[in-house]
Amino acid sequence: MQITLKNPLDMHLHLRDGALLDVVTPFSAKSFAAAVIMPNLTPPIDSLHKAQAYKQAIKDSIHSYAKAHKQPLESFEPLCALYLSDSLTPQELESCAKHGFKLLKLYPKGATTNSDNGIAQVLDSKSYEIFSAAQELGIILCIHGESGGFVLEREMEFGAIFRELATRFPNLKIIIEHISDHRTIPLLEEYDNLYATLTLHHITLDLSNLAGGALCHHHFCKPVLKTPKDKQALLDLALNAHSKVCFGSDSAPHSLEAKQKGAAGIFSAVGLLPQLAELFHKHNALHNLQAFVSDNAMKIYDLACWVQAAQAWEDNPKLITLEQAPYKIPESIRVLDSNLTPLRAGEMIAWREIESKA
Ligand code: DOR
Ligand code: ZN
Repeated sequence: MQITLKNPLDMHLHLRDGALLDVVTPFSAKSFAAAVIMPNLTPPIDSLHKAQAYKQAIKDSIHSYAKAHKQPLESFEPLCALYLSDSLTPQELESCAKHGFKLLKLYPKGATTNSDNGIAQVLDSKSYEIFSAAQELGIILCIHGESGGFVLEREMEFGAIFRELATRFPNLKIIIEHISDHRTIPLLEEYDNLYATLTLHHITLDLSNLAGGALCHHHFCKPVLKTPKDKQALLDLALNAHSKVCFGSDSAPHSLEAKQKGAAGIFSAVGLLPQLAELFHKHNALHNLQAFVSDNAMKIYDLACWVQAAQAWEDNPKLITLEQAPYKIPESIRVLDSNLTPLRAGEMIAWREIESKA
């Protein structure tokens, strides 16, 4: 059995910088037409200048890899999000929008990796000035929605903030990033301007995979994995390709040493589309995979309107063919003198990627 996906999109991806960027980027660039690249670097990507430089660094890295490996990877489009820090002004946001940077990422201060420069007060006049400018400029607000409360209640507690923002800024598109709690799902129905990205790990794993046996730090991420009920409700959204939900892997690589010290993040970029095909096939939902990994995002983010590359995708799509055949996820991926452990490291999975047309 085979399936060919047209223009797969990963709407939430961490590529990091330096040597890590060079090692992890090809996994996504080979398989996806574009990805939303998260800005939580040190220092954060919180200006037009930094966003332009970061985008160029990603493109340069892809170019070097493509040249060295004689692989046509250049068709990958990095959609770099801006980090909402205290220093980002409405004027800077306007310059960003003019130059095609139309995604803004809000991290509540201290909520996750490299969020020290995030927003301490989401519901205050300074933040509202930014949201109002974003609304005017057609910028999409991507939110890591977690409170500072008890770890399993954080997303639920943030719900009040999603409601307030969705009501106050009805023309601002707001993305609930990596939705993880079944209690957040009704917000998608209640508010026209709320959408969500969904990871592979939140629809296939739960808290038992993290802490049910020996502690498995490779399954530690933020928002933390939740209950089987949450996993099932989110899986249903994915398998039905709910029109307000799209795929965003939140692949977030950390060195083995950093993971052992407790860094949050699951490196899921290796064999990602085969894993999705395996999952959708198992649940007789392969017919919905195209919508989940591409079509929904095209519509939600209106990509054809503001991403130049996307205008060519209809006539000249990036096609990724997957087939039902065994494929082993590597045990680890070397970066300088350290290692990364991918999701499902060393496991045989039932699908593999066989060819792509850029
Ligand atoms: O698990 C996570 N890792 N969640 C995030 O929000 C950030 C990410 C990272 O950057 O490592
Ligand atoms: Zn993330």
